[in-house]
Amino acid sequence: MNTDNKKRVSKRFFWRYLAHTSTKPLAFYVKKAKGIYLYNEEDQPFIDCISGIAVSNLGHNSQFIKKSIIKQLSDYTHTMVYGEHIQDPQILLAKKLVELSDNKFEKVYFTNSGSESVDLALKLSLLYTRRNKIIACYNSYHGSTLAACSLKYTKKHRNFMSFEVDFIKFNCLNDLKKIDKNTACVIIEPIQGEAGYIPATLEFLSELKEICDRNKILLIFDEIQTALGRTGKFYAYQHYNVVPDILLLAKALGGGLPLGAVLSSKKIFATISSKYPLSHLTTFGGNPLSCASANAAIDLIVNKYIKTVPLKEKIVRSLLTHPLIKKVNGIGLMLGIELQRSDVVEKVIKYCYNDKILLDWFLLNNKSIRFAPPLIIKEDELKKICLSILNALNNCC
Ligand SMILES: Cc1ncc(COP(=O)(O)O)c(C=O)c1O
Repeated sequence: MNTDNKKRVSKRFFWRYLAHTSTKPLAFYVKKAKGIYLYNEEDQPFIDCISGIAVSNLGHNSQFIKKSIIKQLSDYTHTMVYGEHIQDPQILLAKKLVELSDNKFEKVYFTNSGSESVDLALKLSLLYTRRNKIIACYNSYHGSTLAACSLKYTKKHRNFMSFEVDFIKFNCLNDLKKIDKNTACVIIEPIQGEAGYIPATLEFLSELKEICDRNKILLIFDEIQTALGRTGKFYAYQHYNVVPDILLLAKALGGGLPLGAVLSSKKIFATISSKYPLSHLTTFGGNPLSCASANAAIDLIVNKYIKTVPLKEKIVRSLLTHPLIKKVNGIGLMLGIELQRSDVVEKVIKYCYNDKILLDWFLLNNKSIRFAPPLIIKEDELKKICLSILNALNNCC
């Protein structure tokens, strides 16, 4: 089949066979991906400014990661459900994650995704505290499994669960009064992702931690978007020095392969081993290939790219000044460009698309543009993107 035909067939099959998540998918045909570029059917490179929603922190097709996956592929792939066999890549990764937290956490449970990590954290909290109230924030997004999406405030999405979920306003000290002795846990993103990359204030997180500690409530940080160097620290909580009881990872963790993780203490994890044995199982969680990929990705992030993030943030912030830009939210390369008007968002995204730059919007903020390129992006590439955004604002808004 020639390339044109193949592309036509793929597009037809895309509409015919895939269940879609919206009525207007982007339908961008990916022929290949390398570094910060995605190539369309005509081999035209598009700059990836989204990183697969905070996944491709090291861009695409890294040789270093590939080597690690291939090595593992030739040793073994799946051997047994999670937690039964001793598998080197898994142990090495768990050790790395704990050490990168300066041993603030003791153990790691691997999952396949962010939502699964969230579900485990909720289960741990309900069983550990024997309470049934969960506090989440308005405008939060924690995933799509039944439990994870019960943390979405929008009533039309919420499901009926055997626990009660109450909501507090992000960064609102007054709302912390809603946290009481019936509360099992509070789950929060230190930088609210889908709300437009809004960082928590230090005061809010510190007060929250103090209330949780005082009332023996588990504090859960969902770092599924914020960890792995995206903000210039390996974990975003390290900007605040507020350490949660449970830390959730996924997305960039697997270096492009599916992997999630829950980090916590021995005491809390005893809930699902000695107290309620076999109450949380997974078949593919911590798959060796994903772990091998994660080990390589973390080495690259820690040794090479994390230190480049603050300067890159500075460059973007210094360039993105315009009367139509209200402010740039976020930390590191997790930036939400907040515009004065919501109608401008789509125009900028379309204009930049014509400049072969892929930007995106947010689920829960219609005035902001998502700017989260791979951490490997170079300064001149960042400048090119900023210039295109400014041209868009000058020419079509
Ligand atoms: C902060 C946050 N938590 C949880 C999730 C869910 O992760 P997954 O899609 O891997 O289930 C997401 C996904 O976008 C997220 O951004």
